[in-house]
Amino acid sequence: MAEFTLPKNSQIKKGEEIDVSNGAKRSKTFKVYRWSPEDLDENGEAKNPRLDSVTIDLDKCGPMVLDALLYIKNNVDSTLTLRRSCREGICGSCAMNIDGTNTLACTKAIEDVSGDVKVTPLPHMPVVKDLVPDLNHVYAQYTSIEPWLKSDTPAPNRERLQSDEDALVLNGSDGHGPAACILCFCCSTSCPSYWWNGDRFLGPAILLQAYRWIADSRDDATGERLDQLEDPFRLYRCHTIMNCTNTCPKGLNPAKAIAEIKKMMVARR
Ligand code: SF4
Ligand code: SF4
Ligand code: FES
Repeated sequence: MAEFTLPKNSQIKKGEEIDVSNGAKRSKTFKVYRWSPEDLDENGEAKNPRLDSVTIDLDKCGPMVLDALLYIKNNVDSTLTLRRSCREGICGSCAMNIDGTNTLACTKAIEDVSGDVKVTPLPHMPVVKDLVPDLNHVYAQYTSIEPWLKSDTPAPNRERLQSDEDALVLNGSDGHGPAACILCFCCSTSCPSYWWNGDRFLGPAILLQAYRWIADSRDDATGERLDQLEDPFRLYRCHTIMNCTNTCPKGLNPAKAIAEIKKMMVARR
């Protein structure tokens, strides 16, 4: 019989309530997902995840959700674990789910969230700790598309040039072409097909990257790259649901890139 309740250990429990706002006028509560494989119950098993509720004075931190999380880490609980590097939407490492949407914590303004700010890891990924998802599988998928230039001609002494027109395919006329992808995986982790078939479906981020090389006029391995994707799961599990494009924090269009690959598959038959 089908089971409609979540397994016991996947339920998120209520966590600690901490208020360090000192009654400040501009205060905000952050509900932050916490889980550590080292937090064990009396039977020696990992405890359920919890949502800690931390209220802070917004005048004490910067304007972005990442600023608030770092304030909490530095002033409330140094064990809070998250990834971040550039703090300006370039490295993709601070991707997480904020207020129900996958996005970058460093470019998500606190004032854009009304009410409490709920922060959880990217969905449907195993969690390493707190807000850090395990990206090993998705990086193995990235490796599988061989994301480097394959050319039949010997390497020149200087960079390989391409025409402005060819470069436009990669960069996009508005700068939102496939080359602008920062591999944050907000798109793949918002895609229902990837949730259910992520073991074999490559997902929008990796397919956008595959397209980035297929569409590169300097690359000579187009046929081989298309052969590698010609598979009922790797490519064709995309059902054009469009969550990926709607969620991309960089304004890219992975669904269109996937459609372009499908068109090329049809054209070469
Ligand atoms: S368009 Fe395809 S890849 Fe994007 S969310 Fe939908 S199914 Fe996933
Ligand atoms: S397409 Fe957008 S959401 Fe997806 S990995 Fe690239 S930058 Fe992130
Ligand atoms: S810290 Fe680099 S994208 Fe947010």
